[in-house]
Amino acid sequence: MTEITQITLRRPDDWHVHFRDDDMLSSVVPATVAEFARAIVMPNLVPPVTTVAGAEAYRDRINAAVPKGLEFKPLMTAYLTDQTSADELRQGFAAGVFAAVKLYPQGATTNSTSGVSDIANVMSVLETMQEIGMPLLIHGEVTDPDIDIFDREAVFIERVLTPLIAKLPGLKVVFEHVTTKEAVDFVLGGDVKTLAATITAHHLVINRSDLFKGGIRPHLYCLPIAKRELHRQALRAAATSGDARFFLGTDTAPHGAHLKESACGCAGVYSAPVAMPVYTQAFEDEGALDRLEAFASLNGPTFYGLPVNDAKITMTRQDWTVPETIMTGEGVALKPFMAGEILAWQLKAL
Ligand code: DOR
Ligand code: ZN
Repeated sequence: MTEITQITLRRPDDWHVHFRDDDMLSSVVPATVAEFARAIVMPNLVPPVTTVAGAEAYRDRINAAVPKGLEFKPLMTAYLTDQTSADELRQGFAAGVFAAVKLYPQGATTNSTSGVSDIANVMSVLETMQEIGMPLLIHGEVTDPDIDIFDREAVFIERVLTPLIAKLPGLKVVFEHVTTKEAVDFVLGGDVKTLAATITAHHLVINRSDLFKGGIRPHLYCLPIAKRELHRQALRAAATSGDARFFLGTDTAPHGAHLKESACGCAGVYSAPVAMPVYTQAFEDEGALDRLEAFASLNGPTFYGLPVNDAKITMTRQDWTVPETIMTGEGVALKPFMAGEILAWQLKAL
């Protein structure tokens, strides 16, 4: 069989990114813009993005960081708190400022202290979202300290997601960055119009043993944490199946290397610089390059009710070495996913 040396697809979108703010923002936006036409931007800044005005101002700061001549559309999200007003969401959604709402269980992950302490507190807001067709993006982990960290996603399905969907069957839900077979099976049992999931590049590549290969690997630590190999296999099968419920969301989450290489290192994998090459490799490994476009460029817009992109990109087979370190403008070191590794695919320059 002749080896495929290039693949052209509609320009993809990234349905889950962390751009941060200030120096970090201007340093990381170009890596996402180089590959993706649009991105769903997470609101977990300090303080979080909770208002229409705050989202507009953040959107303007992102647009100012887009390199001249490149087309990119940030899709903004509202950070759900116990106090969120349904009117603010209604207004921001109607004005085209908010594309979706993000639910962080309080304390589940980075900058989630203002998150939702009990889903019962936001039920009336979620009812409004169901009524207006506004998607809810969920970080699906329980925060109960008695639950083992590797079980938090599966327990969330039982305790929170199943009852929520039973109560609000018309609410559009994206189960973000799924990491378990249980999550894949749950999504497959749902309604394609109202339940979908994003899958990161790194969760297609690493399992929990990789976190400790030869010593502790702080740059592979993220939340939800990578699980056993059987779960990675389930994620690969889901992503490469072509099923419309699964689409690309990198969860690229930059943190200064000094904050990760620390006695209490923070969660997040900075994957934007390698995202499409890593996804392409995973699809090739699974014999599914013909389904990469569905996952990366078609299923997301369909779920969100947005047009697919007209522009195309080409991935070419050409070895390149991922830099060990990428510096921000102000000299903060970032360690990208796959730092120092040779990747076989790269984005062909426009
Ligand atoms: O690993 C993670 N990092 N998971 C999240 O949910 C948040 C993210 C971040 O903001 O750093
Ligand atoms: Zn995230």
